[in-house]
Amino acid sequence: MSRPVRLIVCINRRLGAGQRSCAGSGSLDLISSIEAMIAAERLEVPVVKRECLGHCESGPVMRIAPGGPFFTDISEAQLVEIVTRLKSFIENHDANRA
Ligand code: FES
Repeated sequence: MSRPVRLIVCINRRLGAGQRSCAGSGSLDLISSIEAMIAAERLEVPVVKRECLGHCESGPVMRIAPGGPFFTDISEAQLVEIVTRLKSFIENHDANRA
């Protein structure tokens, strides 16, 4: 049985001088926006905060799980596309579970 669909958002902040990280690049500011967009679409998808997804130089980073795409260098403008991809992923995920 596969795990339910969720959106993982990296909230890690690397403290070393000059080290880029998701929180340092604004990931925390994106969470409320993407949660509101997911709710507006009536998607029952939790937004899960995680510490580092291994793409620190390309933050903010999100990933659709289980096994979905990564999104890097995310800005507010890209959130609509991420929600669209999330809806498509859910449809395929549900079809595979049926
Ligand atoms: S700090 Fe976000 S992927 Fe490492």
